[in-house]
Amino acid sequence: MSRDRKKIAILISGRGSNMSALIEAAREPDHPATVVGVISDRAEAPGIERATAVGVPAETVARADYADRAAHEGALEAALARLDADIVCLAGYMRMLSPEFVARWAGRLINIHPSLLPLFRGLDTHRRCLEAGMRIHGASVHFVTDEMDGGPIVAQVAVPVLAGDDEAALAARVLRAEHRLYPFALRLVAEGRVRLEGGRAVADGWADAEQHSQLFSPSPDTAFHQTDIEALARFTP
Ligand code: GRF
Repeated sequence: MSRDRKKIAILISGRGSNMSALIEAAREPDHPATVVGVISDRAEAPGIERATAVGVPAETVARADYADRAAHEGALEAALARLDADIVCLAGYMRMLSPEFVARWAGRLINIHPSLLPLFRGLDTHRRCLEAGMRIHGASVHFVTDEMDGGPIVAQVAVPVLAGDDEAALAARVLRAEHRLYPFALRLVAEGRVRLEGGRAVADGWADAEQHSQLFSPSPDTAFHQTDIEALARFTP
């Protein structure tokens, strides 16, 4: 492990598929981060077993074991100190952190949310996206502030909403995208290429805009488009 690799702690409450994606990506020799530990607030979170199965230490710091939020967060801080964590990634961590905790970790605390923020903060994002008739959905990684799902955005991925999608199909497509987005966003933060400055996420210059792909939904490459082209051709003198 190169000496300047950032040490990452991941906080989970459940399944841990994003956690697994981060662990796997951070094992790549050129990744600027390494996952040093996983902390769950629920002893029964399946992510704990997933982490230990791949050799990453995982422990539970359960809210129920502490008198109040301050005591619980004190224990969380102690666990993070033992891990000597530089950056904390929330990956399906279902608990609001106090303004004091968030302030201590400002710029070093990120979260993944399954929507294109600021749309659809909170729960049930896929259902709400379908109800709104969106053609494009996605996921965001953002710096955590004391506003739920409200912090400055590090990176986002867009996915199409397809005809016939139900909540499960859309959720699965977004989750696959999350698994690519989160390791990428972590890389940007660990390398300091996206930083929290003055309450905003400041990014070093992106690649040439021409290199960015565009997501159309529905795609113009469909039969719709052919019909349009044929219709247009009829009007060409
Ligand atoms: C993900 O959809 C993430 O965006 C949200 O909670 C879910 C966690 O899933 N914050 P997993 O535990 O990473 O599988």
